[in-house]
Amino acid sequence: MKLKNSTSKIRDLSIEIDKLRMPHHVAIIMDGNGRWGVNKGLTRSHGHNEGVSVLKNIIKFSKKLGIKILTIYAFSTENWIRPHEEVSFLLNLFKKVLDDEIIELNKELIKIKFIGDLSPFSEDLRKKFTEAENITKNNDEFTLNVCANYGGRQELVKVAKELAMRSISGEIKPDQINEEMFESHLYTGDLQDPDLLIRTSGEKRISNFLLWQLAYSEIYVTDVLWPEFNENEFLKAIIDYQSRSRRFGGIKSISNQSLTSSMSFG
Ligand code: IPE
Ligand code: IPE
Ligand code: MG
Repeated sequence: MKLKNSTSKIRDLSIEIDKLRMPHHVAIIMDGNGRWGVNKGLTRSHGHNEGVSVLKNIIKFSKKLGIKILTIYAFSTENWIRPHEEVSFLLNLFKKVLDDEIIELNKELIKIKFIGDLSPFSEDLRKKFTEAENITKNNDEFTLNVCANYGGRQELVKVAKELAMRSISGEIKPDQINEEMFESHLYTGDLQDPDLLIRTSGEKRISNFLLWQLAYSEIYVTDVLWPEFNENEFLKAIIDYQSRSRRFGGIKSISNQSLTSSMSFG
């Protein structure tokens, strides 16, 4: 009964979507797992597990909607300060999800990339990251960027260091450094910046996510905790996004590109 209701709601909202103005790239701060677990009288870990199920649905749904890139914040450079048990639970969850899901992701023609400073992770986990990237590297339907030990400040410092090294070696002159060159050193490389940033759980902050790339993204914050986020909530975010006037510093609204000829709601 519950499923039937939520399916009919999805159909209703999907009518309001402008298929020609879909965001190309959506970034998500999946927040509120711990609170969800505790609110339910369970543990924070239950919230993280539930969060993974939601993520699986949202990946599939994004692809179906014609979105091309999804960038998710899975573990920040600051999350290491959490209790040891929670950090190790999250690291094991990474492993488990990769073991369980990589074949399915590949079947769905999804390219997976890990973004962040991966060096502090165990060799075993890093091997799994590389394997997943290699298995899916030729998929071009949809890109899933998983931000792991990611921090916007760390990323900007990384770029500064790399450019300094190139200058010292004489490969480039400091004068030649411009936004384009800087951008090419980001983890996201030549990917288009996110059009839409969604943050769940009501916190109105960036928490060190994609500091450069979010310069002109539209921000949508919902009070819904990540384990309760679903297709319907995602459609609400997109409808809200489509109501925005994106001016990029100018005075005229610049419409979003149309990319969704393959869109269907089955
Ligand atoms: C987001 O949920 C997941 C990670 C940061 C890994 P939280 O774990 O931050 O959940 P809350 O915000 O404490 O409820
Ligand atoms: C941001 O959430 C990081 C991830 C979702 C991975 P946090 O829960 O770590 O952020 P704060 O502490 O509320 O700013
Ligand atoms: Mg949080």
